[in-house]
Amino acid sequence: MTAIKKTGGLAGVVAGKTAIATVGKEGKGLNYRGYSIYDLAEYATFEETAFLLLYGKLPNRDELSGYKRKLAGLRGLPPALRNALELLPANANMMDVLRSGCSMLGALEPESQQHAQYDIADRLIASFGSMLLYWHHYHSSGRRIETETDDDSVAGHFLHLLHGAKPSELHERCMDVSLILYAEHEFNASTFAARITASTLSDFYSAITSGIGTLRGPLHGGANEAAMDLIAQFRSPEEAEAGVASMLAEKKLIMGFGHRVYSVSDPRSDVIKGWSRKLSEDKGDLTLYRVSERIEQLMRQEKGLFPNLDFYSASAFHLMGVPTMMFTPIFVISRTSGWSAHIIEQRANNKLIRPGADYTGPEPMAWVPIGQRT
Ligand code: COA
Repeated sequence: MTAIKKTGGLAGVVAGKTAIATVGKEGKGLNYRGYSIYDLAEYATFEETAFLLLYGKLPNRDELSGYKRKLAGLRGLPPALRNALELLPANANMMDVLRSGCSMLGALEPESQQHAQYDIADRLIASFGSMLLYWHHYHSSGRRIETETDDDSVAGHFLHLLHGAKPSELHERCMDVSLILYAEHEFNASTFAARITASTLSDFYSAITSGIGTLRGPLHGGANEAAMDLIAQFRSPEEAEAGVASMLAEKKLIMGFGHRVYSVSDPRSDVIKGWSRKLSEDKGDLTLYRVSERIEQLMRQEKGLFPNLDFYSASAFHLMGVPTMMFTPIFVISRTSGWSAHIIEQRANNKLIRPGADYTGPEPMAWVPIGQRT
């Protein structure tokens, strides 16, 4: 850290260097390794984005097809992992499923020369969807699904396993864009947690599980599920306006709004909002979209707050038939690319991350033997 500032939650504190992303930097906006999020969401696939983050350059045609083949070949789950997923409770939180699945894979395929860091990153990106949906189908219908499919993309693989049928082009591309938007965001809480774990020279899987545990909270990744719970309460824009106005009067947090770094808008929100509208029009039902838009207007007017990526992701995921409890796990599948890039970067120039604290406890006191204590 450059300096210990008297600020809560390390807001505004520069805690290290990175060449992976810029977030809200003047004149730079949101870039992954120099490429704007708008260009990536328009022209790239998630696989191109993950390759860029991990390997530091855009893949050429051969590298991209090789990378897609590699990911497709890493979708299978070892029998012991499938057994472990079956043992998890049917009502487990799905983030617990991924956190536990990651730990189990770390015990079965521990980091070693044979399983080196880049391969573990790719293995986890490719198999988190398999773990989640194997667990989901086993516990909801008793089916032990085959997780190795011929889908061309991580997005298509996820939707195929979820629905048991190949997705439409529109849904596959929308999921692909969501994965691009969620892939990386500089020193956000979960990435920082992953870097802290990596800085102790712990193993790759431990750093990723730190990221998953940190992402789970509703102030971070869990906000997309909380945003869905919010918009699902309202049947019309008018109801939404009245409902959110009364929540604001009670000083409640409106999930999916505000951001620690952005002060004017979240560039990712414009992109996913466009997709939410497209999916609503495709379905011929704009209710959720209009409810969301009215909440956005009210939040701008009353609080000067703007939607972050999580807000319109909620309706987009819902319109693709994704159960709400899977929203944050999808964030995990995508963000594993960013976390992994950061773990690799941290290791390349490591220094243990261990900040100081201002002490606010009692002054030194004389020892009190147990018999004399009140
Ligand atoms: N709804 C209502 N009020 C909000 C708000 C929201 N979503 N986000 C911020 N505010 C208000 C705070 O209550 C605070 O008001 P106050 O000064 O009167 O106390 C003010 O705006 C500043 O917020 P603060 O919590 O100090 O900002 P932060 O940088 O610590 O928090 C977030 C950033 C993201 C944690 C915060 O905006 C939030 O909790 N958002 C909802 C959760 C969410 O969407 N998370 C995903 C982030 S990508």
